Amino acid sequence: MSFITNLTRMWLTRSTKPFIFKNEYDQFLPFQECHNLGLYIHIPFCKSICNFCPYCKVIYNKEQCDEYIKALIKEIHMVGSQYEGKKEVTSLYFGGGTPALAASYLKDIITAVNEHFIITEGIGLELHPDNVNEETLLMLKEAGITKISIGIQSFQNKYQSILGRKTVNPEALKEALNKVPFETVSMDFIFALPNQTYEDLKSDIDIAFSVGANHVAIYPFIDFTFTTSEVKSMPKKQKRKLLDQITNYCLEKGYDRNSIWTFSSVKEAKYSSMTRDNFLGFGCSATTLLKDQFKINTFNVQEYIKRINDSKLATSLTIRFTLRQRMIYYLFWTAYSTKVDKRDFERFFGIPLKKMYGFELWIAKLFGHIKEKDGVYTMTLKGAFYYHYYENFYTLSYIDKMWGIMRKEAFPERIEL
Ligand SMILES: C[S@@+](CC[C@H](N)C(=O)[O-])C[C@H]1O[C@@H](n2cnc3c(N)ncnc32)[C@H](O)[C@@H]1O
Ligand code: SF4
Repeated sequence: MSFITNLTRMWLTRSTKPFIFKNEYDQFLPFQECHNLGLYIHIPFCKSICNFCPYCKVIYNKEQCDEYIKALIKEIHMVGSQYEGKKEVTSLYFGGGTPALAASYLKDIITAVNEHFIITEGIGLELHPDNVNEETLLMLKEAGITKISIGIQSFQNKYQSILGRKTVNPEALKEALNKVPFETVSMDFIFALPNQTYEDLKSDIDIAFSVGANHVAIYPFIDFTFTTSEVKSMPKKQKRKLLDQITNYCLEKGYDRNSIWTFSSVKEAKYSSMTRDNFLGFGCSATTLLKDQFKINTFNVQEYIKRINDSKLATSLTIRFTLRQRMIYYLFWTAYSTKVDKRDFERFFGIPLKKMYGFELWIAKLFGHIKEKDGVYTMTLKGAFYYHYYENFYTLSYIDKMWGIMRKEAFPERIEL
């Protein structure tokens, strides 16, 4: 596997230089000149831990959560006050863990963000189904949250029990969502679980839209090597069939495909922290992507708090990009929206897309993976499957290795990918 990813990386970056992440960082972050900048805040607490989950999280403990939020607010001020005035940003997303466990602090966190940034497209937050009750939703709404994403995984008991999760009651969700509506209500599901069928998924999507969702995300199950989950991934052929069937179903229903895994029943409903040209991340494990660097905060909650209390950023690793490496990052994450506009690429890099990747675009068109219209390259159904396939590959070759190390070491010396 790593042979193929290495070859692809060398070809696309036109260099044998690997992606090198080093244990060093800039205390000053040049985000002022970045357009289309997004913000992300990580809250790493959960009531119980799911064994399939790769994210940075620990069991909730009030004392540690209080300390963490104080550090988080300090980090926001440390970064935000590097420039005078307020920087315009597209959006703010809270992810986790289970951010609603810190619901009573959200107002303070958002106030800190608003001192330095102007958010133009709303604030999103991930929810566990247990958090979907009138009281919590009202607290979120009052704090300024406009979009929510609920981690359903499946409405069917057999898959919830495979994943070790509790049954979700759709009627209870409906009642709470009716009382406290949000601009975007997304529900996320895991697909490609053992023996999962098209009917199973179709039914999940129908239930989601009927109980108040206007957006769904269907993520393929990824079997991370460092998790203790024994659930195995579905074979490639079966998975492709399922993905094509479910995509066709959503398109036939008239839902809008706004990213590779997401569909919405109304065009305005959007929930994605991924498709930003640049982003600033706060909290442990949060990542920051700027014009020429990508950095990742430590996964260790206590070490994160300690660093911030010492008035230092909690960056664990930084990669300083070559131009081609940055282009690959740009194309990979922009393609997540299923579209790449050649004008946006040229605006970002000052070089025409065709000049840099004309051959790859020609091949992708020849194989029927993309179509071009008015300078916008759109993925076909086939292209979306191969993107998914490559993303899975990338996740298992790169993210799995990196997160596997970072879960054990707070500040590793160096990681080469
Ligand atoms: C941080 S959780 C969502 C919020 C909340 N903590 C919860 O569990 O409902 C983010 C989402 O990632 C997805 N996820 C977690 N582990 C995954 C895996 N191994 N493969 C694919 N998706 C996964 C799940 O759909 C989950 O809802
Ligand atoms: S899936 Fe959600 S609740 Fe489960 S461990 Fe991951 S973040 Fe926590």
